Amino acid sequence: MAEVVIVADRDEAGRLVANEIARLVRSNPQTVLGLATGSTPLPVYQALRESLEGVDVSHVRGFALDEYVGIDPAHHESYRSVITREVVEPLGLTPENINVPNGAVEGIEHAGADYEERIIAAGGIDLQILGIGTDGHIGFNEPGSSFASRTRVKTLTEQTRSDNARFFDSKDEVPVHCITQGLGTILRARHLVLLAFGEGKADAVAAAVEGAVSALVPGSAIQLHEHVTVVVDEAAASKLSRADYYKYAWANKPAWQGI
Ligand code: F6R
Repeated sequence: MAEVVIVADRDEAGRLVANEIARLVRSNPQTVLGLATGSTPLPVYQALRESLEGVDVSHVRGFALDEYVGIDPAHHESYRSVITREVVEPLGLTPENINVPNGAVEGIEHAGADYEERIIAAGGIDLQILGIGTDGHIGFNEPGSSFASRTRVKTLTEQTRSDNARFFDSKDEVPVHCITQGLGTILRARHLVLLAFGEGKADAVAAAVEGAVSALVPGSAIQLHEHVTVVVDEAAASKLSRADYYKYAWANKPAWQGI
């Protein structure tokens, strides 16, 4: 099952994951990162500024998890803009190496397959950063998504649109459709790192980590992957039945093992 690491706060989570990414990039300058957006991964991107200091990042490649369909790429909240602002510019990555699914309505019918081809051509994703929605989605794979799914267009649930309304002037502005890496795409990444903070994520985390593997809880797909690290604060961990064991296992983890 997933390794669950319960940390004190977002900053500690950010440092933990950023150190692992820096280790990867030092060992392979062409590391391919899977980049989530939303508020959850921000502490990781913040901590990477320090962890990657002095490391050559010019060859690092990245693939965003998802994008809204029909949003102007220049819009402040398009995931293209968010990734540029939060990741590419502050870390000094090479913009041409960073991919975001093409959410333009024109050509949308082959945008998913094109993205899959690009991921495969890059040799696959080494480390995929994930957040989780309150309805259990990862990427924008809403409940009911196939575990075999590849990058494609999905319809956002009302719950997700309400959750994301905080980034827009109103809920009405949140696009209805998105293009997202599929659960099958995510499961092909070599290491999944799922982060979650706050009480609002506690049910989704418990269902994904300890609940039944079910398309109704897309996050439960992580139970099918051989290398998963779930990094949560106490509040997000509050509904995990085996939290004490996870803490015990982490405290006794051999230093050579890494995450
Ligand atoms: C974002 C993404 C989503 C978010 C999730 C949680 O690229 O794929 O799965 O990770 O909606 O969002 P936040 O982090 O804003 O709570």
